[in-house]
Amino acid sequence: MLATLPRMCGIVGYVGQRPALSIVLDGLRRLEYRGYDSAGIAVVSDGSVRTEKKAGKLANLEKALGERADDGIASGSTAIGHTRWATHGGPTDRNAHPHLSADGRVAVIHNGIIENFARLRAELEATGVEFVSDTDTECAAHLLAAEMAKLRADSAEKDGPQLLAEGMRRVCARLEGAFTLLAVDVQVPDAVVGARRNSPLVVGRGEGENYLASDVSAFIEHTREAVELGQDQVVLITPEGIEITDFTGQTAMGKDFHIDWDASAAEKGGYDYFMLKEIAEQPQAIADTLLGRLSANGEIVLDEVRLTDQDLRDVDKVFIVACGTAYHSGLVAKYAIEHWTRIPCEVEFASEFRYRSPVLDRSTLVIAISQSGETMDTLMALRHAKEQKARVLAICNTNGSTIPRESDAVLYTHGGPEIAVASTKAFLTQLAACYLIGLHLAQVRGVMYADEVAAVVSRLRRTPEKLRDLLGVMEPVRALARDLKDANTILFIGRHVGYPVALEGALKLKELAYMHAEGFGAGELKHGPIALIDQGTPVVCVVPSPAGRGVLHDKIVSNIQEVRARGARTIVIAEEGDEAVKPYADDLITVPRTPTLLAPLVTTVPLQILACEIAAARGHDVDQPRNLAKSVTVE
Ligand code: F6R
Repeated sequence: MLATLPRMCGIVGYVGQRPALSIVLDGLRRLEYRGYDSAGIAVVSDGSVRTEKKAGKLANLEKALGERADDGIASGSTAIGHTRWATHGGPTDRNAHPHLSADGRVAVIHNGIIENFARLRAELEATGVEFVSDTDTECAAHLLAAEMAKLRADSAEKDGPQLLAEGMRRVCARLEGAFTLLAVDVQVPDAVVGARRNSPLVVGRGEGENYLASDVSAFIEHTREAVELGQDQVVLITPEGIEITDFTGQTAMGKDFHIDWDASAAEKGGYDYFMLKEIAEQPQAIADTLLGRLSANGEIVLDEVRLTDQDLRDVDKVFIVACGTAYHSGLVAKYAIEHWTRIPCEVEFASEFRYRSPVLDRSTLVIAISQSGETMDTLMALRHAKEQKARVLAICNTNGSTIPRESDAVLYTHGGPEIAVASTKAFLTQLAACYLIGLHLAQVRGVMYADEVAAVVSRLRRTPEKLRDLLGVMEPVRALARDLKDANTILFIGRHVGYPVALEGALKLKELAYMHAEGFGAGELKHGPIALIDQGTPVVCVVPSPAGRGVLHDKIVSNIQEVRARGARTIVIAEEGDEAVKPYADDLITVPRTPTLLAPLVTTVPLQILACEIAAARGHDVDQPRNLAKSVTVE
């Protein structure tokens, strides 16, 4: 039988005095970006575990709950809920979480993969257990029920929450793979137990109530006090408290933290889509990321540095590892880091990095860039780098997530929550963070003086204002999007830092508009891709400032003429006042003047809006494009 494996999912748990159903549903709504193939909920109420689960988006679950006779599901004050993203096998009601034990007394939800599930399943079936789903998760429900039965038989204290925690620890000891598990047991009505290995789980600390979730946005409406869990830990929440142990039962400490954004930051705020809201938030996100980064003596301030300046002086090679949009920010960073520090810098897909035995040692700095901090490909690349003794520095938007936790140094991007699956403000804040790291390295190594660093930082600080101006004049881009909505293909070309911008513009269009799009280094066109150009083919051309590197500008103007001569419709993104490019632009979109290396902070924005508006004009779900999920916690 084909297993339907839950890959990256949203998980919420609540225990307290209030009706849990609506609290958990609200949490799931905020986590739906993590997966939206199916959703389900289990509530402990009046001596039963009552579940409802439905394939499809959360709305299907809500509809089913609305049509359900009142059997107590709406009043129980202990619940777990799940929103799922599956990679293969049809997402069905049957495979949706929660999964119940055979006696219906234990319910489990899960994010991750139980790698030894086939063996466990065979073992359970041999004892007479009948499986009702194709999932690996169901094993955990049956195993937990069996452990609880054994514990109750052995223990004088029959139903205490501690039994549930011990049952979960015993289950975890049998599981291989990556998982976050949450479980409830009807005989322990006022407790939810959770466990995590290589998969995210945070605790929300309330008053007379507590929460568990894949990320804080699920409970931020109720509390801004949270506890970060470590690897291989079990957490038990009751209305009165939070108890954390490792998998062997040793008491463990979580790390308390305060969430410094509020619930309204996770709402659409009047925009049609989260993506549009997040595009509009970019000036502030960049300003926040830059805030406080320059100390009184002109040094760049990172958030957590477990590296000495000498370690950074010893660096003789930089590797940047990341995926998707974050990878594109790394491509831009390469230009800045090599220019400012003169250290060779390579950028690699995190998913490829460890498979080709990269040459790494103590003097290699690996920069891992990740919005979520949970991307498994990036995490595995990071771990490989650490095994080879390289130093790892993370750029991340999610406080306390796994990637920064496992890194030697961290620079957090203060972008706030990014809900739309397609990354926008995370990209720009990653760029800002990369620039800061390039400057920091250059300064520590003595290749740039404090005043030179301060001059670049001051230019960076001017970008939010420029972006605000730019965002105010994007109507022509929207009109262009309506015009291009039926195009078969759109090509993007750029040179230097405009090349990664072209790649990012094409990626946004593919993922949102489901349209063929490609990004090219403009100089590469003549080596093959120019054959794609036909009469009317739209080609978006990202043009560098004529003021910075004149040769670069001249070269791309020639490239624009080449494609135009072959019938392309040229859509030119150029700096205000760039007269030289005007005659070759069928459509001209101007951006504020910005130094060449920093230009992606402005040139990317019209491309984000173009993709968003084309997707909307084609009738797509902009915030949750098909086949994708926000946090990719599998390789
Ligand atoms: C595209 C997008 C993805 C992510 C990639 C890495 O819009 O969002 O390509 O950039 O999956 O995710 P993080 O940054 O969370 O590691």
